[in-house]
Amino acid sequence: MRLIEECRKRIQKIAFGNTLLPQEFTLGLVEPQSEVSVWLYGIGTPHEVTDQLTTACTAPLCICIAFDKGHKLSENSFRTVALRFCERDGSKRVLGEISLRFRSAISIGSSEFILFQARKSTNYCLPRPRLWAHYLLQAYSQFKRSDPSDIRMTLREQRAAVVTFIRPHPLYLASVGDRTNGNIFPMNLAGDLGKGYFGFALREMRLAAHLVERVNHLAVSTVPLPWCSVAFRLACNHKKESIDWRQLPFETKPSMTFGIPVPNFATRVREIQVEKSQKIGSHRFFVGRIVSGQVQSKELQACIVHGFYQFWRLGGDSAMLQASMAEDLTNKRGPDNADCRPSLECSRPFSTLPTSRS
Ligand SMILES: Cc1cc2nc3c(=O)[nH]c(=O)nc-3n(C[C@H](O)[C@H](O)[C@H](O)COP(=O)(O)O)c2cc1C
Repeated sequence: MRLIEECRKRIQKIAFGNTLLPQEFTLGLVEPQSEVSVWLYGIGTPHEVTDQLTTACTAPLCICIAFDKGHKLSENSFRTVALRFCERDGSKRVLGEISLRFRSAISIGSSEFILFQARKSTNYCLPRPRLWAHYLLQAYSQFKRSDPSDIRMTLREQRAAVVTFIRPHPLYLASVGDRTNGNIFPMNLAGDLGKGYFGFALREMRLAAHLVERVNHLAVSTVPLPWCSVAFRLACNHKKESIDWRQLPFETKPSMTFGIPVPNFATRVREIQVEKSQKIGSHRFFVGRIVSGQVQSKELQACIVHGFYQFWRLGGDSAMLQASMAEDLTNKRGPDNADCRPSLECSRPFSTLPTSRS
């Protein structure tokens, strides 16, 4: 038995080296992140869309990009569209690419929100042989997958989703309703869409999505790194209609316009009035107008990136990767490394990447 285990470890070491990392890595970054820029190719001259895009659905994998209405867009404009994820400083290396296909458009005011479906992708964060070892493992795991049927992603979609997480995704806590009938839950499939708009994707089958749809407004708080584990443990609230706010391990205060309870620790709170929402596949996509925004502190904000990008960030240095894995665990589980806090009734503390359960 020991021999088999030994052989397995050796083969693993040869195939993956030091690249067997968590899919989702938590980091503390200054907001807005300045490590990665995203460029749109295929419509006139390439232009930066870093703060104008967000994932709108994971199965199928759709990305929403905001445009000005005057941009004269037509389905034909989007035949060969691609996103390029680049290092912002240094040699501005391309870290990943996703080719896109036009799917549909949402029009609000002078903005046009185009939904693209991911086609194929390339990831440059890992050396080729390592990347292919991961792709093989991914294909093998696909057979044994027990994902719920509503979020079954193809291998292509999973690979493209990994590329989307080269750009650090802020971790948000979304608050909805009030202290008698409301909820608070983590979100990372969310982001700015330019011109005061914000987009976010919530799993269609979860109660949180239905609550937002009914109430039509919410407050979105960014999370300072020391509170990251608390935000992770609130993932189970996606399945709840409302929560008992007294059970939360932090104080809240009413948001500026809507009076929605928001965490006192939030680094930034923005209130969103939902303008449009549509069911895409596994997720319902919401686009809203930011009606207020308050920066409360400049602390490092909890963000999520993919393990492949973390490998690239740390130059593949094994010692640094080990240290960052330990930090990541603390960020997700708290300093005492407890798995679940019964008081928060959470069953699965880790699940953010669309490749897993978002
Ligand atoms: C950090 C974090 C971010 C999440 N972001 C989203 C999100 O943006 N949209 C969504 O529908 N669910 C999101 N979830 C919820 C999970 O995908 C999942 O629905 C939740 O963990 C409970 O379901 P499970 O018990 O099946 O894992 C997030 C969870 C965590 C921990």
